[in-house]
This record gives sequence, structure tokens and C-alpha cells, in this order.
Amino acid sequence: MEVYSEKQQIRAAIDALKSKNLTLGLVPTMGALHDGHLQLVKKALANNDKVVVSVFVNPTQFDNNEDLVKYPRTLEKDIALLKTVSRNDILVYTPTIEDIYEGNTVSENFDFDGLEFEMEGKFRHGHFDGVGTIVKRFFEIVKPHQAYFGEKDFQQLAIIKKLVEKHDIPITIVGCKIHREANGLAMSSRNTRLKPEYKKAAPFIFKTLKTAKELFGTKSANKIIEWVEKQFANHDLLELEYIIIADTETLKPVKRKSNQKSYRAFIAVYADDIRLIDNIALN
Ligand code: PAJ
Repeated sequence: MEVYSEKQQIRAAIDALKSKNLTLGLVPTMGALHDGHLQLVKKALANNDKVVVSVFVNPTQFDNNEDLVKYPRTLEKDIALLKTVSRNDILVYTPTIEDIYEGNTVSENFDFDGLEFEMEGKFRHGHFDGVGTIVKRFFEIVKPHQAYFGEKDFQQLAIIKKLVEKHDIPITIVGCKIHREANGLAMSSRNTRLKPEYKKAAPFIFKTLKTAKELFGTKSANKIIEWVEKQFANHDLLELEYIIIADTETLKPVKRKSNQKSYRAFIAVYADDIRLIDNIALN
């Protein structure tokens, strides 16, 4: 498996592949890879001849320096894990900050038609400008045919779709289902930092979302939100940051349900100092 840390090198390797008319997928990640990431890589490999997996902890999308500093960095392990999926068809791109930002570690300002102001946008200022900036750079360097993103970060997926639409970027964005532990907890690189008692408590998040989905048939969005808030108010360890039931197109909170629209419940919870997000389709 080839591992590149400079854009000139990976560009040369990609040009060689493209001259053979091979199709190329891209899976952008921040590393600390787990089975959720591998699902994206496997799907990309099933649809493309070669797949670039980028591993880069992007400083401009963190609004909390401690979270950035503590973000797990496990490159050796990541490479070993990727080798279990394919030894020949994956290229790893793990740039330095200098290589990718060229001395200018700031975000571009994007207009994602308001998607950026909902949910995560309210709690993580500048986050989606950072994500947009880095993903756009990866798109420009790798120029994949398809790029893969998880529904775990549903708002991010919606924003990347908006990015390619608004900037006329000729890349197909493929969304991938949320991959979970057997106990329901959505896999996340941050899960490795959970202390044992919080790890044990965390599946409560998905359990609550599943009940919210059951209630969606008969109860109003407001009633469900109240119910979820109560569950967390009564919980000793987990602290709710938000629960929102939103239209999957606009990501705006639902006012009155319509049979024509699809909805999801989105949640952010603190387990100690670790922020976990999850979501579920309601209809
Ligand atoms: P990261 O959190 O490493 O996630 C990389 C990709 O894996 C994202 O598209 C994310 O949605 C997906 N993913 C993570 N956990 C998943 C799970 N349990 N099931 C399905 N997909 C999952 O998201 C980022 O990195 C960054 O913001 C990035 C897009 C790389 C830009 O820096």
C-alpha cells in the first residue's frame, strides 16, 4: 500500500492511474479508523478501481483547541487496518498541515444556503467552513469520480452535496449508512476516549433515538423532543446538548409533519467531556 504525504507525489500517482482510464474513489477521514470508516472504504472499492483514503486531522474545523489536541492520531494502526481491506487498490494520503494549507491555515467562507446554520452549526462555530475548505482541497488534489461520506455526520453529508452543486464540482457524492457497535452506539473515533462507565452508558443515546422513532407515528415532534429531554434530564452521566427533529432536505426543525417529506431526529450528547452525535431516520 502506498502512503503519500505530499500532494505532488499523490497527484503524479493519480495521473498515472487516470491515464489508464481507471476510476477513482475518495474517502476523506481524520484517521483513528474504525469499522465505520472501513464500510465507506469497502463501498468505494466496490464502485471504483482505486480508492484514495485521506487521513488528516483538520485544524480549521475544530472550534475547541483541547478537542483538536486530544483527537486520537494512530496512523500506523490505520494503515494496518486499511491493509486488511485491500493491499493493492488503496492509496493513503496523509498530508502535513503545510502541504495542504501552504502556510495559510484559515477557512474559506462558504454559503451552503443556510444548511450551515442549523444543528452543529449553532454549537460549533466555523466548523462547516473548515470542513468545506479541507474537503474542497482534497477534491481539487485527488479529483475523484466519487467521494464517500457517512450519514453519521448527516449535516456534513448534506453540506458536501451542496458544495459540489454550488461550485459545479464534477464529483458524485455517495452517502453511507451509520455503522454501529452491537450495542447500538454509533462508531466514532472519539469512542476510544470514553471512560468505561461512559462507554457503558453511551448506547442509551441510540436506544432513546429508536424510541423516538416509534413515537413519531403517533406523537408530535414537540412532544417527542420533550420526552427525549426528560430521559436525559433523568440520566446521571449523559448530558444532552440538543435533540432536533428536522426535515432531511432543509435540516430545519419540523413545525407540522407532512407525508410528502422525510424527517430525522438529530442528537448531540456530552459523555463527560466527549461530544457524541447520532441521528435516525423517522419515516
Ligand atoms: P471522520 O470523523 O474521520 O469521518 C470520516 C468519514 O467517516 C465521514 O464521512 C463520517 O461521516 C464517516 N463515519 C464516521 N463514523 C461513521 C459510522 N459510524 N458510520 C458511517 N460512517 C461513519 O468526518 C470527518 O472525519 C471530517 O469532517 C472530514 C470529512 C474528513 C473532513 O476533515
